[in-house]
Amino acid sequence: MSAVEEQLFQRFGREFPKGSILFREGEPGRDMFVIQSGKVHIAKTVGDVEKILTTLGGGEFFGEMSILNNRPRSATAVCAEDCRLIVIDPRTFETMIRSSAEIALRMIKKLATRLQAADDQIENLLLRDGSARVVHFLLKEAERGESAAGGRRVEVPPADLPARVGVEPATVDEVVGKLVKAQLAVAGPSGFTVPDLGRLAHFLEFLR
Ligand code: CMP
Repeated sequence: MSAVEEQLFQRFGREFPKGSILFREGEPGRDMFVIQSGKVHIAKTVGDVEKILTTLGGGEFFGEMSILNNRPRSATAVCAEDCRLIVIDPRTFETMIRSSAEIALRMIKKLATRLQAADDQIENLLLRDGSARVVHFLLKEAERGESAAGGRRVEVPPADLPARVGVEPATVDEVVGKLVKAQLAVAGPSGFTVPDLGRLAHFLEFLR
């Protein structure tokens, strides 16, 4: 932890157990949050279907949108694990942005990445076939993922895939089984490794 982070955590840090609902979609926005440790699901509910838009981890922030645009919360935030979060009120947030071009730039870059991910989700929803949607999701996440030994990482646990893609667990299991067998993906408890983006993209073309 850097000295600045340590100071921020001392002043604004709070602990939240797994399952804590930090805020719900539609509520008025108050604070924004920076994740010091743990993971937070960002989810939207339509009727009785809940879709996890993304899962955020250490160093990432959320809850900034309603502060920036004065609109209600665009999604619900739930602790997927025990979390340590820095809770920042709107005035402190504004002071931070005004005083540091570096913080503002980092935030703009992150928001651009989120917009790109949202575009990918729109493209994903336009695919009719459930199997194609699972493969498209893994491909797009892998394209944005970190390079690791053996390929690009997708930090989404297999158990979270149905809620992330909005596809039945049985279909997800079947597709993941095929991908693993064809060595297009390696599955582990915390996520996937995609050894070759080109081969996975090629496979997706067959399913479209
Ligand atoms: P806010 O609208 O205040 O509350 C919900 C938060 O979820 C939102 O701010 C963002 O920080 C975050 N969020 C909403 N949509 C997405 C998305 N598609 N990807 C990542 N984070 C999101």
